[in-house]
Order: sequence, then C-alpha cells, then structure tokens
Amino acid sequence: MALGACSPKPAATNEVASTSSATQTATNAVETTAPAAPVAPAAPAATFPTAEDTAKLASLPAPYNQADLANGKRQFAVCKACHTLPSGGPNMVGPNLHKVVGRHSGSIPSFAYSDGLKSAGFSWDYAKLDAYLTNPKAVIADSRMAYAGMPVANNRRDVIAYLKIESEK
Ligand code: HEC
Repeated sequence: MALGACSPKPAATNEVASTSSATQTATNAVETTAPAAPVAPAAPAATFPTAEDTAKLASLPAPYNQADLANGKRQFAVCKACHTLPSGGPNMVGPNLHKVVGRHSGSIPSFAYSDGLKSAGFSWDYAKLDAYLTNPKAVIADSRMAYAGMPVANNRRDVIAYLKIESEK
C-alpha cells in the first residue's frame, strides 16, 4: 500500500480518522473509519504511459502519433463514468469499448443501442471517432450518448490515441 506516507503512526493503529476531534471519539466508536478523508488515489499513473505504450504510439497514423497519452487518460476520465475498456468489461451506461478503434459501430450484442447506432453500418476509424466525439449527434442523430462533445482538437486526438492503445490491452 502506498498510504503509509500519509500517516505519522504505524499502521497497527489503523486510525485513518485519527484527526477527528477527541470529543467525537466517544460517540462514534463504531464508525471511526467513516469520516476518513477520501483515500488518495493509489496512483498507478506513475507507470503510464509505459515504454511499450510510447512505442505503440509512434506507430499510429498522424496526428495520433503526436498524442499526449497522459492527457488522453485525463480526458478519458469523463468517458469512464459510462464506459469500460478491458476485454470482457461490463457495459455501463454506455457499451464496453474494448478494441473500439476499427470496431464495427453498434456491435456489442448485449448493449441496447439507439436505432441510429445499431443501424449505422460503419467502423469506428479515427475520422469517425473524431467526428463523434466532437458532436455525437452530428454522427448519430438519435445518439443516446449523453455527452455534449469535446471541442478541443488536441484533446480529441489524445483521447482517441489513448483509446486505441489502452483498449487493446
Ligand atoms: C453519460 C454517459 C456517457 C459518457 C460520459 C460517454 N459515453 Fe460514449 N456512449 C454512451 C452511450 C449511452 C452510448 C450508446 C449510444 C447510442 O446507442 O446511441 C455510447 C457510445 C459510444 C461509442 C460507440 C460504441 C459502439 O459500440 O458503437 C463510442 C466510441 C463512445 N461512446 C466513446 C465515448 C468516449 C471516448 C467518451 C468520452 C469522451 C464517451 N463515450 C463518453 C454513454 C456515454
């Protein structure tokens, strides 16, 4: 665990909530862990992008080979509320996006797509993804993706490169 640095005391006390005032300790003995500060993210970020990611990035077509993968990951934080990337990952509000770059539109059988996406009949190449992320409804008129669009071109470039690399793991 990487939490040790946050706590001046040995882990044996396990008092994550030890900063709460002494007057409270008598009343909330059962719930001492409840008001803990949000656990600091376990920060695997330090290992991203890996050397392998960077090598793969260089093989993507321009301008995606220039992408900032760390920014792509940050941009994907919004998508993550609705989408998973790993193979076999669950559908959430939106469909699993494993290997979505090059994947046929509307092709996850277990996901209830809009009629427009179900019958769109194209593959998600870079250009389609760029257009969709700019303005989903410009590509799929009845899109059910409740996402307004990503106006900054470099952010789209970065998140699409991230999708390409991360969703193929
Ligand atoms: C609020 C939830 C939500 C957010 C946020 C969201 N999506 Fe979606 N996404 C959906 C839904 C729902 C669909 C299915 C749309 C339909 O059926 O018309 C979808 C569909 C897609 C598809 C088409 C998948 C396929 O199988 O054809 C792609 C690609 C996609 N989203 C990428 C993204 C990316 C990238 C982001 C972040 C920039 C994002 N989405 C943000 C809900 C979301």
